[in-house]
Amino acid sequence: MMTLRRRHFLLGGAVAALPPGAFLAASALDGGQRRAEALDASFSRRYDNPLRLPGQGGWFAPVKASEVRALAAAPMPHRLRGHRDTPLWVYRAEVRGRVVLNPILTARAGDTVDLRFDNLLPQPSVIHWHGLANDERSDGGGAFLAAPGGGHPVRWTVRNAAGLNWYHPHPHGHAGEQLWRGLAGLFLVEDDASDRLARELDVRFGLTDVPLVIQDRTLNRAGEMPYHDAGVERMLKSADNATRMAFEALCSGAPGTPLFHGAYGEDILVNFTRFPVLALPRRWARLRILNGSNARLYRLALLQRGRALEFSLLGVDGNLLPAPQAATEVFLAPAQRVDLAVDLRQAELGDLWLKTLAFDPMHDDGLQLPQTLLRPAVAAASMPAHDHGPRGEGAEEPILRIDVRPADGPAGRLPQRIGPAMPPAVDGAPQRSFRLGHDAQRRWSIDGRVFAGHGQTSFTVPAGAGPAREIWEVDNPASGMPHPMHLHGFDFQVLSRQGSPAQCGPLRVDAQGRLATDLGRADTVLVWPGEKVRFLVDFSTAPAGIQRYMFHCHNLEHADAGMMLAFAVDAGPPD
Ligand code: C2O
Ligand code: CU
Ligand code: CU
Repeated sequence: MMTLRRRHFLLGGAVAALPPGAFLAASALDGGQRRAEALDASFSRRYDNPLRLPGQGGWFAPVKASEVRALAAAPMPHRLRGHRDTPLWVYRAEVRGRVVLNPILTARAGDTVDLRFDNLLPQPSVIHWHGLANDERSDGGGAFLAAPGGGHPVRWTVRNAAGLNWYHPHPHGHAGEQLWRGLAGLFLVEDDASDRLARELDVRFGLTDVPLVIQDRTLNRAGEMPYHDAGVERMLKSADNATRMAFEALCSGAPGTPLFHGAYGEDILVNFTRFPVLALPRRWARLRILNGSNARLYRLALLQRGRALEFSLLGVDGNLLPAPQAATEVFLAPAQRVDLAVDLRQAELGDLWLKTLAFDPMHDDGLQLPQTLLRPAVAAASMPAHDHGPRGEGAEEPILRIDVRPADGPAGRLPQRIGPAMPPAVDGAPQRSFRLGHDAQRRWSIDGRVFAGHGQTSFTVPAGAGPAREIWEVDNPASGMPHPMHLHGFDFQVLSRQGSPAQCGPLRVDAQGRLATDLGRADTVLVWPGEKVRFLVDFSTAPAGIQRYMFHCHNLEHADAGMMLAFAVDAGPPD
């Protein structure tokens, strides 16, 4: 017997031969740079489809959330590639006589969302308002579903400060598939602080302030978008029996949950655009990025001729940072957002690339497989055992070509203060810990338990008196997968990371092991295999009474397989 460690234990190949730290240095090497330039030139021709900007053809049109009377989840064929329509599912609304699809909903604190949700899908559904503070019914966590053909009223008042949030389906067991098929929209909260920021940067929404929704999907020539793990699928298709057995053992989950690692596609789309290009003038620009993928992580950087441009993080998840934070790269896990500004005067005219850099995806599920089965299987497949397709997670890939153009007029400037100050740290807050893993039937779990339904809460947070803050600690065993853990209804502050993998080392910004993306108030935190992450959750905003919320992995196939729990927050009776 052998234990499967990382995929580069199994096979040779360029990536496999390098120690983890070498990934980070690779783009600085001279030969590497020449190779990068040649590669970029060939990509340049292919990345030629104008990025879909907010509002084109009604797609991602910005509309005031308070003006939407009805929002339907509905099938809607649309051309994403070639000559055939893809049978998407999307959110559709009619606002002031105009049909909008997956609209960008905009709001300010105090605005009311008051609409009817219509479910025109063949599955139950519900809208979850990811990152937005709500009571349990309005949160849309899945306890209250609309049946196929049914619907229900949605009514809640926006309480958040400025930030980039989003909405997507949350029916347990179907959330992953519904997101994959196209259901997701942004929800932008603005306030005085964000108005000031946009004024100083002198950016215009949709032109120099551009939302980017990054999603991997497989689009085949028939126009289909199969809900699958592209790499595993490819492997199984070409495999002989022994290979098939090995990969089935490696990559499928419990019966009924076949996507053990998650759903991965072969193409990386931005705003539903394949091979996108965006023209930006040589001045300050703002990119508001959502990883709207089901399972894929990205290591994002802006590169010109192999050189990484410095950018300024303005916000993470649904909140602005107190001050901009300089960075050259960030890991972005499913559901996470980064709001960033970049001074394109650092760049030359011409191609600049938003890329995902190479990293170790750490898909190590601790399986025990006999050598005799594994060796021929791996040899037969002649590709990395755990690579998810030709454009596997962790491979360096272009995402968006930015065509840097000359600018006229002012360049804008970056203010030194942006969002509200971080709340002071508390001593002696009660602590709760969670251990991630999977059971013998290969169902992902939290504390050894698989989600048992919305009726069963795992614990109750007392939030009626005192500071109502808790320290949560999430422990991910070394043999596992990275899990982006998401909390509904409340923000938190990362306090520390321990046992982080080597590839996070150079991104560390303090002695607590935190990364630049840990410096704001977040709702989703990536926990790598071997890591222990502690964060401070603020429950003081809890609405009165006992409300139930979800805590889960936002690799939605993991959540659908059971890596989710419900808990209650008891803020006491209303006064
Ligand atoms: Cu964005 Cu419970 O999810
Ligand atoms: Cu959420
Ligand atoms: Cu997970």
